[in-house]
Amino acid sequence: MQDSETPATPGTGPSVAPACTLVVFGAKGDLTQRLLMPALYNLAGAGHLPAGFRVVGVDHNENTDAGWREALTETMQGFTRDDTAEFHPDRIDEATWRFVCERLRYHTGDFDAPETYRALDGILDGSAIFYLAVSARFFGPVIDHLGAAGLLDETDGRFRRVVVEKPFGSDLASARALNARILKSAREEQIFRIDHFLGKETVQGILALRFANRLIEPAWTGEHIDFIEITAAETIGVEGRARFYETTGALRDMVPNHLFQLLCMIAMEAPASLDAEAVRDAKAALIAAIRPPVGDAVRGQYGAGREDGRPVPGYRDEADVAAGSLTETYVALSLAIDTPRWQGVPFYLRTGKRLARRRTEIAIHFKRPHAELFGVGAAPNVLRLFVDPGSGLAGSLNVKRPGPAMALDPAVATLNGSADALPGVGYESLLFDAMKGDGSLFQRADMIEGAWAVVDSLIAAWKDAPVADYPAGSDGPVAADTLLNRRGHAWTPLPAE
Ligand code: BG6
Repeated sequence: MQDSETPATPGTGPSVAPACTLVVFGAKGDLTQRLLMPALYNLAGAGHLPAGFRVVGVDHNENTDAGWREALTETMQGFTRDDTAEFHPDRIDEATWRFVCERLRYHTGDFDAPETYRALDGILDGSAIFYLAVSARFFGPVIDHLGAAGLLDETDGRFRRVVVEKPFGSDLASARALNARILKSAREEQIFRIDHFLGKETVQGILALRFANRLIEPAWTGEHIDFIEITAAETIGVEGRARFYETTGALRDMVPNHLFQLLCMIAMEAPASLDAEAVRDAKAALIAAIRPPVGDAVRGQYGAGREDGRPVPGYRDEADVAAGSLTETYVALSLAIDTPRWQGVPFYLRTGKRLARRRTEIAIHFKRPHAELFGVGAAPNVLRLFVDPGSGLAGSLNVKRPGPAMALDPAVATLNGSADALPGVGYESLLFDAMKGDGSLFQRADMIEGAWAVVDSLIAAWKDAPVADYPAGSDGPVAADTLLNRRGHAWTPLPAE
C-alpha cells in the first residue's frame, strides 16, 4: 500500500487534530486491536485526523510494517462478523481504513531496552503521543526511558505527551510513587491518565445536563435529592484475567477510577470554566470531600449460577483462582460527601461481575413532593442516566390521569442518545482530546491520589474479612440490599426495564 497524503477522508478545519505521531506501546495487545484501532478508524471516518497523522506500534514480537498492517486489517474485518465485539460495524469502509492503515509503522523493540528509545528518536519527527497500552509494571520504566532518551522534550514547538492506562497504582503508596517517578521525566500537563468511562457519551454530557438547564440546576442539592445510585453491573466473569483480578478485585478495579469519575461528574460543584484545570480542580475538591465508607460497605463474590440461561462456574472454580480466594467480584458502598450541597444525601455505589444484567446507570432519586394533596399517589421523581449499553436519560413525572377524578399516573419522559453521535468504542473523544492537548477528561495526580486515599481505608478494613456469596446471574449479595434498606432505600432491580 502506498503512503498517500491525499486520503479519501482527509480532515481539515478546526475539528481536526494537529499533525502528530501516536506511538503505541503494546502494539500487539488486546487494547490496541480491540479499541484503539477501531477508535482511530472512527476518528478518520469522521474527518478528525489530519493527513500528517502517523502511528508507530511498538512491541517485542518480531514483525514488519506490512505484517502488522495485514494482521490489523484482518482483525478489523473480523469485527464485522463478531456481534459480541465493542466495535461491530456492518462493513469496514475501505477508504477510511486505508487512510489509517497506510499510516501504520511497526517497530520491534523491548520496552526495557534503551536502544528501543534511541531507535524511536530516529523515527520520530515533530509532535508525538506515547500511548502506554501495556501492563502496569511497564508504566514507570517506559516513561523513565522516554525521559532519558529526550523523547519527552518539547522543543521547536512540538508537543510530547504520554497517555497512561489503568491501573494507576494499587493503593495510595504505589500511586504516589508512580506519580513521583513519572513526574521526574515529564510535566503534569504532558501526562494523560486515561479512564475510559469518561469517554462514554452520557458521562461527557453530565456537565451540560446539570449546568445548562435551569430546570435541573437548582434542584441538584440535598434539599431536593433523597439519594443517588451509581451502578456498573456486568454479566461477564473474569474472562481469562484471573491472574490480574485475584490481586485486584472489584474495589480496586472499578471504584477509585470509573465509579469515582461518575461520582465526580454527578456531584462536583460547577467548575469556574470548562478549562481542563478548572474542571479537574472541581473534581479534586469533590474527591477530597468523600468520607471513607468503612462500615458502610459490602463485598461479595459470585458462586455458581446461570448467565443467559447457561450454567456458569463460581469465581473460585475459574482458572487461576485460588480455591479459598477472598477476592471480591462485587462491591457496594454507601458514601457521604461532606459539602454543603450534599449534607444528608447518601451516594450508593455498586459494581460487580456475573450480575443479572449489564447496566451502567446513574439514578437520582428526588424527595417526595411536599404537598400532601395527592396522598400516597405522588411517587418521588427519579432521573436515570443511561451510560451503557446505549446512552440517554429517563425522568419519571407524576401527571394527572385523564378523566373526571383527580388521580396521578406515573409518566416517563425519555431522551435517547443522539443517532448523530460519532459511532464509538469509547476511546475516540479521549484520543482526540489527547491529540488536542485537552486534559479535562483525564485524571490529574491529585485526583488519583485522593481516590486511593478513600479506597485504602476500605482495603485495610477488609483485610482477611469474609466475602458474601451471591449466585452468578443474580442482583448481588443480600447484604447489599440491607445496606440501603436500613435507610428506607432500595437498589433499582437489575433485571427491570
Ligand atoms: C475495566 C475493568 O477497566 O472496565 C474491567 O478492568 C471491566 O474489569 C471494564 O470489565 C468495564 O468497562 P465497560 O466499558 O465494559 O463497562
